[in-house]
Amino acid sequence: SDNPLVDTFGRTISYLRLSVTDRCDLRCTYCMPERMQFLPRAEVLTLEELRDLARGFMARGITKIRLTGGEPLVRRDVIDLIRALGRYVGDGLEELTLTTNGTQLAGHAQAIADAGVRRINISLDTLDRETFQRLSRRDALASVLGGISAAKAAGLKVKINTVAMKGVNEHEIPALIKWAHGEGHDITLIETMPLGEIDEDRTDQFLPLIAVQDDLEQRWTLTESDHRTGGPSRYVDVAETGGRLGLITPLTNNFCAGCNRIRVTATGQLYPCLGGGEQVDLRAALRSDQPEANLATALDTAMRIKPERHHFKIGEGEAPAQPRHMSMTGG
Ligand code: GTP
Ligand code: 5AD
Ligand code: SF4
Repeated sequence: SDNPLVDTFGRTISYLRLSVTDRCDLRCTYCMPERMQFLPRAEVLTLEELRDLARGFMARGITKIRLTGGEPLVRRDVIDLIRALGRYVGDGLEELTLTTNGTQLAGHAQAIADAGVRRINISLDTLDRETFQRLSRRDALASVLGGISAAKAAGLKVKINTVAMKGVNEHEIPALIKWAHGEGHDITLIETMPLGEIDEDRTDQFLPLIAVQDDLEQRWTLTESDHRTGGPSRYVDVAETGGRLGLITPLTNNFCAGCNRIRVTATGQLYPCLGGGEQVDLRAALRSDQPEANLATALDTAMRIKPERHHFKIGEGEAPAQPRHMSMTGG
């Protein structure tokens, strides 16, 4: 691009996380409360608006687009969007991908692969049916596992995302890693981030990944890997399983200096940082009489206000750093 997105800290933004819906068929405790108020559909960007928006971002040097939610696959026309954007893969876009909870994947994996997606991230915090139900408030483990199998069968490269939680899935982490690696998947562990009011106690559940890594090193040989996926994950190779393990440590090892991302909600609000700060209304720009010029101005504003880093903290008496729930920005 001859007009790339560069923020005031000199970071070039090439990765767009685009939420296509705030809705989800699960209610993971770290993400939203049981009774979540969803947005009226009229507020949400149309398929055409999403496509125009993606084109506008590509013109400014975005080379990676990840569709998120809520759960992206609960949006009815999401496959049409994936097909439309898939046409740019290799021709403007280096990567088109999504992060999904996997429940609807069995029915969509082949279409997603056919559209040009090569790699997807699937959230899975436990292999135990009851733990899954407690955590997501839905009895959906079997459909998620079916979705993961379907993705593999369709030839998609899979990365499993696991939020590590004390007293919930901590004891299961080695088994999850073994299972994922046995299936030929990468797996990334994630520290819980304090977004939105949730019903669970985050302080009690917070598990620093430094401790998990120490623990895993008692059991296995971990060696640093230079593998990168363009996200915040740093990777280690596990000699005994022959697989790759990612670690995302927003709380214990800040990675904001290398930030290359911005996120846009399903209503077209651009959040320059997951950790908060001001937002920029791209929907207003898109729906104005000069969408291209106004979008360009809005993106320049976003680059001017992108904060240096988040200030997430988890501990006794800490309020969420962000009142907005994770399901608004898809992480
Ligand atoms: P890859 O393309 O595979 O590297 O994926 P990714 O890690 O960029 O995306 P994914 O949707 O799998 O996100 C994994 C976790 O990383 C989620 O918990 C996200 O909230 C978190 N994450 C992604 N980007 C950021 C970021 O800029 N800041 C913070 N704090 N967390 C992030
Ligand atoms: N902290 C950390 N990760 C979260 N995710 C959702 N909510 C949180 C949170 N509060 C993860 C999901 C999914 C990814 C997009 O973000 O498990 O894998
Ligand atoms: Fe749904 Fe994902 Fe939030 Fe879980 S983390 S409730 S799967 S949007």
